[in-house]
Amino acid sequence: MAAIILDGKKEANKLLESIKKRAKALEEKPGLALVLAGNNPASEIYVNFKEKTCKEAGFYCERYNFPENVSQNELLKVVDELNQKREIHGILVQLPLPKQMDESLVVDSILPNKDVDGFTPVNLGNLVNDNNMMEPATARACIALIESTGIKIEGKNAVVVGRSNIVGKPVALLLLQRNATVTMCHSKTKNLLEHTKNADILVVAAGKPNLITKAMVKEGAVVIDVGINRLGKKIIGDVDFENVKDVAGFITPVPGGVGPMTIAMLLDNLLMAMKLGRR
Ligand code: GUN
Repeated sequence: MAAIILDGKKEANKLLESIKKRAKALEEKPGLALVLAGNNPASEIYVNFKEKTCKEAGFYCERYNFPENVSQNELLKVVDELNQKREIHGILVQLPLPKQMDESLVVDSILPNKDVDGFTPVNLGNLVNDNNMMEPATARACIALIESTGIKIEGKNAVVVGRSNIVGKPVALLLLQRNATVTMCHSKTKNLLEHTKNADILVVAAGKPNLITKAMVKEGAVVIDVGINRLGKKIIGDVDFENVKDVAGFITPVPGGVGPMTIAMLLDNLLMAMKLGRR
């Protein structure tokens, strides 16, 4: 039987409506700062989407663009100013940063209360301690899409392919918190198929087009594809969607799956940042 396609855009719009409603009840307008350094074309597209969605929600948005050769001190200075700015509740520094930067130093300079990506050591450490403060938006998007299927996560075999700090590690922690049995696979995993074939829930964030084929997926599995790969003019995920959809129970498309949901989650984190800021 063909899989049910998980419509990330529809889920994202539902969440955005609820975000806008909650924001209306606040005394202040939510304010997001987006910092983009360099000219990575993919980063530019992502930041454009984030800015557009933020503005469409009626929120305040500041955007800072820096050239590829911006100095680390310049970025640290802008983050420091944004940390102190009252009308800014959330700061997002788009990654990757140009190679002359110490990425973790720049990310760590964001106040944890304003870290809407959930990437600072305080926020990631809280996640490890089951004391979640700000959860990384892409990981939250994956969980929301899994939960939208109505399938219970507890007790399921969940396999995460990819161990990035941005997606793989946080999504594995969120699945673990929901009592899934979590296996993490990565580029050095031997016999990837042996693991993926056993997955009731399969989250793929490896950045490799068509890494996951039909033979690697268990019948009826929930397949969440976080990959965004450019193939000529086309954007494709890490999962061979056309064939895997014949065996999976649920599958996210690329584009139109995790991507839009991630941006909605970012704005949800912005409201969380406003709450944390008032404590
Ligand atoms: N680069 C790829 N994904 C992300 C993300 O979610 N946040 C930031 N800041 N950079 C990214």
